[in-house]
Amino acid sequence: MILLGIETSCDETAAAVVDDAPTIRAHRLLSQLDDHAPYGGVVPEIAARAHLEHLDILIADTMRDAGLGFGDLDGVAATAGPGLIGGVMVGTVTAKAIAAVHGLPFVAVNHLEAHALTARLTDDVAFPYLLLLVSGGHCQLLEVSGVGRYRRLGGTVDDALGEAFDKVGKMLGLGYPGGPAVERAAVRGDPERFALPRPMLGRPGCDVSFSGLKTAVRQTVEALPPGPLDPTDAADLCAAFQAAAGDVLVDRCRHALALFGRPGPLVVAGGVAANRYLRHRLESLGAPLIAPPQALCTDNAAMVAWAGLERLRLGWADGLDFKARPRWPLDEDRPPAVSPDTADGL
Ligand code: KG4
Ligand code: ZN
Repeated sequence: MILLGIETSCDETAAAVVDDAPTIRAHRLLSQLDDHAPYGGVVPEIAARAHLEHLDILIADTMRDAGLGFGDLDGVAATAGPGLIGGVMVGTVTAKAIAAVHGLPFVAVNHLEAHALTARLTDDVAFPYLLLLVSGGHCQLLEVSGVGRYRRLGGTVDDALGEAFDKVGKMLGLGYPGGPAVERAAVRGDPERFALPRPMLGRPGCDVSFSGLKTAVRQTVEALPPGPLDPTDAADLCAAFQAAAGDVLVDRCRHALALFGRPGPLVVAGGVAANRYLRHRLESLGAPLIAPPQALCTDNAAMVAWAGLERLRLGWADGLDFKARPRWPLDEDRPPAVSPDTADGL
């Protein structure tokens, strides 16, 4: 089985071809970082326009890299939510058009499910596993017991961790996105110099909260002498922030493992899972830790093609009338799946 996957839910335009070996036959990604950097965050209208401008050429290039024509595919998958609706529409409409023209099944992929199943593409992980999904928009702990079968054990009550990384990066003048910059600066920093809170630490359950930690970083910056931030101060703050986030994640994952009732494995996914320090901290839990390669932690289309393939090989495709969903919780009951042969519009 070979699928084309399309990802356009945020600020990366991506296409990939993945088979069920599993092998990533080809993948391309066009980052819009430079388009959004002057605004310090993603501007939805700029994102949608950039996806529209580049997606068809990117798909053509990806198919050429794979040495395949659309007729060689078994299906087309696209992120259909959650995400910035303009971009999601560009991706789903393109995928539906390819599916309609070539008589292929279309699979509407939940972006979170794509992150959640990536470890099965990269590490052949068997169900069930515990998943820590940490990205710019999401932070949750889930039990994954099958494709489409997710039980939410806890999540953030305010900010996602990636969002907190981005805001800390911005406060310290490290640019956007903050995550990789904060991680780089933290390597040179002293995590002990500034005392920061550990929200939710030791509380029952698995919820997390990062808004108070972010505010504490802001207050610490404001208490420093006025003027440009000293690079040592910035590095020490990054290290303190990362250490606090690490303590919280380790504590919450320990609780989640107890609720999960098995020794693991613990899978980390989403952009923040690219963070080496946090991966290292999570290893201290003693459960087998599976973290996809960094390039497959942040948004990409291989994970979308793979999630589509996982669904399609169970006989689940979606109608061409499937509506893009800006919000789409992972643990919600999905409408009954239809077989590829009977999918509406095919
Ligand atoms: O999964 P992703 O690419 O997009 C979403 O679905 O949100 O995650 C992007 C987030 C951003 O907030 C970015 O700052 C964060 O992941 N991130 C990191 C690192 N690399 C990316 N956070 C911490 N450390 C990193 N190395
Ligand atoms: Zn993502």
